[in-house]
Amino acid sequence: MHLVPRTLLLGLLAGTAWAQLSSYESFLDVVSEWPPGPGAPLVPQQPDSELTAMMAEIDPARIKAIITKLVSFGTRNTMSTQADPLRGIGAARDWIASEMRTFAATSGGRMTVTVPGYLQEPSGNIIQPTVISNVVATLKGSTDLNRIYVVSGHYDSRVSNVTNFVDDAPGADDDASGVAVSMELARVMASHRPAATIMFVAVAGEEQGLFGSTFLAGTLANASANVEGMLNNDIVGSSTGDDGTKDPFNIRMYTQGIPSSETFDQITSRIHIGAENDSPIRQLGRFVVEVSSNAVTQMNVQMVYRPDRFLRGGDHLPFIDQGYPAVRFTEPHENFAHQHQDIRVVDGLQFGDLVEFCDFDFNARVARVNGVALWSLAQAPGTPKNLTMNTSVLTNNSTLTWTGDPAAAGYEVVWRASEDPFWTHVIPVGKVTSTTVLLSKDNAQFGVRAVGANGFKSPAAFPFTK
Ligand SMILES: *[C@@H]1O[C@H](CO)[C@@H](O)[C@H](O)[C@H]1NC(C)=O
Ligand SMILES: *[C@@H]1O[C@H](CO)[C@@H](O)[C@H](O)[C@H]1NC(C)=O
Ligand SMILES: *[C@@H]1O[C@H](CO)[C@@H](O)[C@H](O)[C@H]1NC(C)=O
Ligand SMILES: *[C@@H]1O[C@H](CO)[C@@H](O)[C@H](O)[C@H]1NC(C)=O
Ligand SMILES: *[C@@H]1O[C@H](CO)[C@@H](O)[C@H](O)[C@H]1NC(C)=O
Ligand SMILES: *[C@@H]1O[C@H](CO)[C@@H](O)[C@H](O)[C@H]1NC(C)=O
Ligand SMILES: [Zn+2]
Repeated sequence: MHLVPRTLLLGLLAGTAWAQLSSYESFLDVVSEWPPGPGAPLVPQQPDSELTAMMAEIDPARIKAIITKLVSFGTRNTMSTQADPLRGIGAARDWIASEMRTFAATSGGRMTVTVPGYLQEPSGNIIQPTVISNVVATLKGSTDLNRIYVVSGHYDSRVSNVTNFVDDAPGADDDASGVAVSMELARVMASHRPAATIMFVAVAGEEQGLFGSTFLAGTLANASANVEGMLNNDIVGSSTGDDGTKDPFNIRMYTQGIPSSETFDQITSRIHIGAENDSPIRQLGRFVVEVSSNAVTQMNVQMVYRPDRFLRGGDHLPFIDQGYPAVRFTEPHENFAHQHQDIRVVDGLQFGDLVEFCDFDFNARVARVNGVALWSLAQAPGTPKNLTMNTSVLTNNSTLTWTGDPAAAGYEVVWRASEDPFWTHVIPVGKVTSTTVLLSKDNAQFGVRAVGANGFKSPAAFPFTK
């Protein structure tokens, strides 16, 4: 954020104040404070007392117990046995579902657990007919049942050979760590009442080609479900990189730019108005950075402008393909000797995704990042719909119009310089469905967010032209 106004810059330059600028960087910092405009600097919204208390209940010891239990099933390769009560993916699935049911028992009937699955015929790395099942714990929204947020990790695991369903594949970090996030959040949120619906999910078939998440996203899309955010946690259990670097207070969040679901015409319109960096995915990312980087999570969320790491993919991608905003969390420094590897020692180096390499305190902080984001999403009104920028006449103002939502107590216009990553300014506009801001739409990016009577604010919508 750059807080030196341009007027000050002009004053500095006029006064030949070059000497006051200590470096080239500080000059760049000053010049990028553009354009000047109305509103106050955006102050990040903070968790309320209910959310803060819930996040304090997230327990590293429980995360350790979940990961240790999942590792105890030997292999969770998607094609491993589903008949053995102690070994293989079937036993892991049944254990996750039974734990979720114990959490649901505290919900007064508002949380239900299902295990939707289907038979996948051989395809790609699925080399034999395989039932692929997801575990889905759904906590029904108390006022906005049909608006849904999803948090997910994958419970399948693998060794070096992705079709080897026999050898031990502990998958502690990849991705028992992500399943632990879904399960801990289900446990602490089950007895609370979110306004919108939250789904706590563990999917299978990720390693062979995102089969479980493709099935879940497809099922939701076929039901015309209004999924306004999906958080994928995959490899969130270790804070130590392969060079020994420890980075326990940062978490990477991958956010795709242009949604894969958009048509050529939609992409053309997006490029035409400079909205490449303003997709619903990026707005979800900005929202997570704003609400989840604070003292309650003790984490910095590092937003990356990329769908995923190079050569990698994850369960957020099928959601993006269906037009849903979805992001991926992954630890900041990966150790590739501990992912997708047979358990072995080579020249004194231990390979394999073993529980001994996990950092449960870090994993708990990642769960809090997800929990604060999810709860803040579910307690706020939905993202404003059908937001448009009026371009019918040439003016130096920006007139925004959107559809009113009875759940919103009011709205805020947010804006930033087009080259800034995050919203920098906020203008409360009250309970209206149209407003004119005295700042040219040619010079800044604008968004509108809804504010609930409880103070929770939605992610921003970005206007298209009308
Ligand atoms: C991988 O595992 C499958 C199933 O066990 C086996 O058929 C195949 O030969 C293995 N591939 C390699 C390269 O070892
Ligand atoms: C969604 O609907 C399409 C079209 O009817 C169908 O082909 C597809 O199998 C459905 N997907 C799921 C996951 O049910
Ligand atoms: C948004 O606009 C579309 C197309 O005009 C319309 O079908 C839809 O109902 C509108 N949504 C809302 C929430 O007003
Ligand atoms: C856009 O603004 C013009 C001029 O004020 C007005 O006549 C028109 O109705 C507006 N269009 C929309 C879609 O609101
Ligand atoms: C917009 O502002 C510019 C100066 O920034 C001015 O030259 C122009 O006349 C204004 N346009 C209108 C329609 O007022
Ligand atoms: C819009 O901008 C013009 C100058 O471009 C100004 O004269 C006018 O008062 C503004 N309209 C509103 C509603 O603020
Ligand atoms: Zn993974």
